Amino acid sequence: MEGRKILYSAVQPTNNLTIGNYVGAIKNWVNLQNDYDCYFSIANMHAITVRQVPAELRQRTLSVLALYLACGVDPEKCVLYLQSHVSAHAELCWVLNTFTYVGEMERMTQFKDKSARHAENINMGLMDYPVLMAADILLFQTDLVPVGIDQRQHVEIARDIAQRFNNAYSPTFKVPEALYNKVGAKINDLADPAKKMSKSGENPNGAVFMSDDRDTVIRKFKRAVTDSDAEIIYDPERKPGVSNLLSIYSAFGGKSIEAAQADFAGKGYGEFKLAVGEAVADKLAPVQAEWKRLLADKAYLDGVLKAGAENAARAANRTLAKVYKKIGF
Ligand code: TYM
Repeated sequence: MEGRKILYSAVQPTNNLTIGNYVGAIKNWVNLQNDYDCYFSIANMHAITVRQVPAELRQRTLSVLALYLACGVDPEKCVLYLQSHVSAHAELCWVLNTFTYVGEMERMTQFKDKSARHAENINMGLMDYPVLMAADILLFQTDLVPVGIDQRQHVEIARDIAQRFNNAYSPTFKVPEALYNKVGAKINDLADPAKKMSKSGENPNGAVFMSDDRDTVIRKFKRAVTDSDAEIIYDPERKPGVSNLLSIYSAFGGKSIEAAQADFAGKGYGEFKLAVGEAVADKLAPVQAEWKRLLADKAYLDGVLKAGAENAARAANRTLAKVYKKIGF
């Protein structure tokens, strides 16, 4: 629709998605799609910066799409597509590479983390990851990028690159802004609440996956690390474990943190952890049923991706054409 702000976000189809991906990203998209022109992609080009098994990557890509849909992301309201279907991503990335300094990329926290974890394969793509992400965002003249806090540095660099290009030529890219949740912009690991809950976390008990069954979800929450005093209050500094659980309960139960706290006034940690687990499991059950149903309908999923790719390519190619013209191609 003319005049509406543009929103862009994506998830990498690597490993299983966690409730952190849901709360930090996908859940918000469902609300935002009514008020913005939204583009949501599955970032399979980012995924190959870490070695993938091809058949698994293909399967997981469809699984992420089916999960978006099962969570309520609606292809009638937004453009849903696969990054590799739109060649403008790779093309703009190449141009933006010439506006990005090696030193900046070497300093990115995620690059440093991933290089440490994949020391055998520190490939150029891993280092270039933020530039491809900048291309994703800038191709669509994006106003807002709804992501979790862990993506802050990546959105910042996309802004820097946009400004650098605009200053070198003339205004070409919209300079985007990140959009974070008030609650749940960072869901932490249940076993180690100082760390982000991650798809690739070493401790499988610390992450709750979108595919976990009810018993597994409840077991993981029962084991969640809290602290030694028995107060259920939101205080991320002093009480990271309890505060993380309150955030999760608030996100899954659709309540404010204050209301979540009030629900547990005077109650013990055992009861609290069980209630958080139940709130999550209750919400996941219908999503999982719909996810399974959609995954069996490959023709439908392919149709969504095909239509999405056409729409995304149209918008992306408009920006790419401008860029090519400005740089003298
Ligand atoms: P990815 O796949 O790591 O994560 C997808 C989204 O989930 C959010 N997230 C979390 N939010 C809260 N708590 C957590 N524990 C948590 N873990 C993950 C992430 O912040 C993200 O919003 N580089 C991106 C994918 C991407 C992208 C883009 C995003 C590619 N191109 C363009 C926005 C715009 C990534 O790896 O996300």
